[in-house]
Amino acid sequence: MTRFGGPDVLEFGEVERPSPISTEVLVRVVAAGVNPVDCKTRRGEGVARWVAPPPFVLGWDVCGVVEAMGYGVARFAVGDLVYGMPRFPRAAGAYAEFVTAPSLQLARVPAGVSPIEAAALPLAALTAWQCLVDAADLREGQTVLVHGASGGVGHLAMQIASSRGACVVATGGRADREALATRDADVALDLVGGPDTLALVDTLRRGGVLLAVADGATDEVRRAAETRGVRVVEPLVEPDGRALDEISMLVGSGSLKVSIDKTFPLERAAAAHERLERGGVRGKLVLEVSHR
Ligand SMILES: NC(=O)c1ccc[n+]([C@@H]2O[C@H](COP(=O)([O-])OP(=O)(O)OC[C@H]3O[C@@H](n4cnc5c(N)ncnc54)[C@H](OP(=O)(O)O)[C@@H]3O)[C@@H](O)[C@H]2O)c1
Repeated sequence: MTRFGGPDVLEFGEVERPSPISTEVLVRVVAAGVNPVDCKTRRGEGVARWVAPPPFVLGWDVCGVVEAMGYGVARFAVGDLVYGMPRFPRAAGAYAEFVTAPSLQLARVPAGVSPIEAAALPLAALTAWQCLVDAADLREGQTVLVHGASGGVGHLAMQIASSRGACVVATGGRADREALATRDADVALDLVGGPDTLALVDTLRRGGVLLAVADGATDEVRRAAETRGVRVVEPLVEPDGRALDEISMLVGSGSLKVSIDKTFPLERAAAAHERLERGGVRGKLVLEVSHR
């Protein structure tokens, strides 16, 4: 990207290969996942202010092979297949043939999982994990409402919640509002935002948790939550190789499966962004990286 703007600002070109410093690994990228935050950053919104002014290489979700390691890396060996979402919300440059990453921000890809599936997982699965497990401490028998469950984060959040023995109520697309009539839920995961965030406050019991993932919470939402005794959390996902290890275990045991809607070659990253911004994607979009 040499400027912020529409999908056409994503140009395919040559940049220098990065080199790993101490505690970092150099990853030969096989696939890179696409997330809504990539589109927001491309437009100059969201975390763009921390990524740096263009030119920069977009992207966070990555899967590839460890090509080299800086001093001090004990977690991996050259040749390991790894995945992660390094450096977020600073730039990681995952839409590329090579990236460097702090080793603790990556994990080994579990057996039986393809690089495309692995590249689709980190940002969405870590968001779901950090919300449901770390922030809400979701327990067996609790009820969680997942609003926007058909998308990248939502379809993984439902499975993580189920794996913890929670009861899941979900909305599966724009026209689906029935679940918003839920009452006395323990946790609401808001992946849609806008006016629906306020409606979600009413779905929760006193002492329940609203995870305002998509847009955060307005003052109106905060006031309503305070009146009803609901805790509001505005999470921002963070790189976490140890939590990725837990996610790997769920994937490895068959409790968590990522759904791939479509793949695009890296050269067609702009088409992937157009597709995501059009809506109606079920699961994840992934860029496949071929090396010349
Ligand atoms: N704070 C953080 O750290 C963090 C981390 C990850 C994601 N996010 C944000 O969270 C949101 C979701 O992320 P994602 O990766 O899951 O995005 P996504 O893959 O685009 O999924 C969003 C889903 O919500 C559905 N949806 C849209 N409007 C809806 C409505 N009114 N009712 C029910 N479902 C509706 C969409 O269905 P249709 O396409 O059919 O409309 C889509 O399946 C995005 O805004 C993203 O930027 C924040």
